[in-house]
Amino acid sequence: MPDITVVILLGSPRRNGNTHLMAEAFAEGARSEGAEVESIFLDDLNLRPIGPVGDVWEEREDVRADDDTPGVLHRMAAADIVVFASPVYWQGVTAQMKMVIDRQSAYYVAPWLREGMEGSGFFAITAWGAPNEDQSHWVTEPVKLWAQGFEARYLGEVGANVAEWGKVAEMPGKLEEAREKGAAAVRAMGDG
Ligand SMILES: Cc1cc2nc3c(=O)[nH]c(=O)nc-3n(C[C@H](O)[C@H](O)[C@H](O)COP(=O)(O)O)c2cc1C
Repeated sequence: MPDITVVILLGSPRRNGNTHLMAEAFAEGARSEGAEVESIFLDDLNLRPIGPVGDVWEEREDVRADDDTPGVLHRMAAADIVVFASPVYWQGVTAQMKMVIDRQSAYYVAPWLREGMEGSGFFAITAWGAPNEDQSHWVTEPVKLWAQGFEARYLGEVGANVAEWGKVAEMPGKLEEAREKGAAAVRAMGDG
C-alpha cells in the first residue's frame, strides 16, 4: 500500500506558536508510521476571501482564482489526511483558515475536490487562552462538520488551554499526545 500522505494547514500567524508546535509533533508521529507530511503556513500565502458566487453550484466560478487558494485546495484534495491546526480566534478558526474553507465553496461540486476529499481523514489541532472555559469546540465542531460535508472521516483532535507563544512545549504530555495521535491517525487511515 502506498504511503499515507498528510497535509497540515497551519492557521496561526505565529510561527512556533502553540498550534504550530502541536502540528509539528503530530507530523513527527505521522512520519514515524511512514507517512509523507507537508505543512502549509497559510499566513505566508496570498489568500483572499471568497468573492461573489451564484446560487447554482455547477455554475460557480472562483473569481479570485489567481491567488494561492486553488493550490492549497488541490493539495488538500490530494492528501489522505488533512489537519486543520488553528487557535481559537473569537469563536472560530483564524481568518487565514476560514478563507480557505470558504473558498472551496466556489468549487464545491467539482469532481477533483469532491472525489479528492471523500474518504479522507480530517484532524483538528487547537489552542485557546481563556482560563475558565474549554473553548476548543469553536475549532473542533466546524472541522467535524466540514468532514461530514465532504464525506471524510473525523479522526480526532488535540487541544491545549494555553495563551502564551510556544508555552505548549512546557505542558507535560501535550506534545507527546500530539505525536501519538499523529501516529494513530496514520494507522487508522492505513487500516481503511
Ligand atoms: C485575535 C485573537 C483572538 C483570540 N480569541 C480567543 C478566544 O475567543 N478564546 C480564547 O480562549 N482565546 C482566544 N485567543 C487566544 C489564543 O487562542 C491563544 O493565545 C492560542 O494559544 C494561540 O495559539 P498560537 O500560539 O498557535 O497562535 C485569541 C488570540 C488572538 C490573537
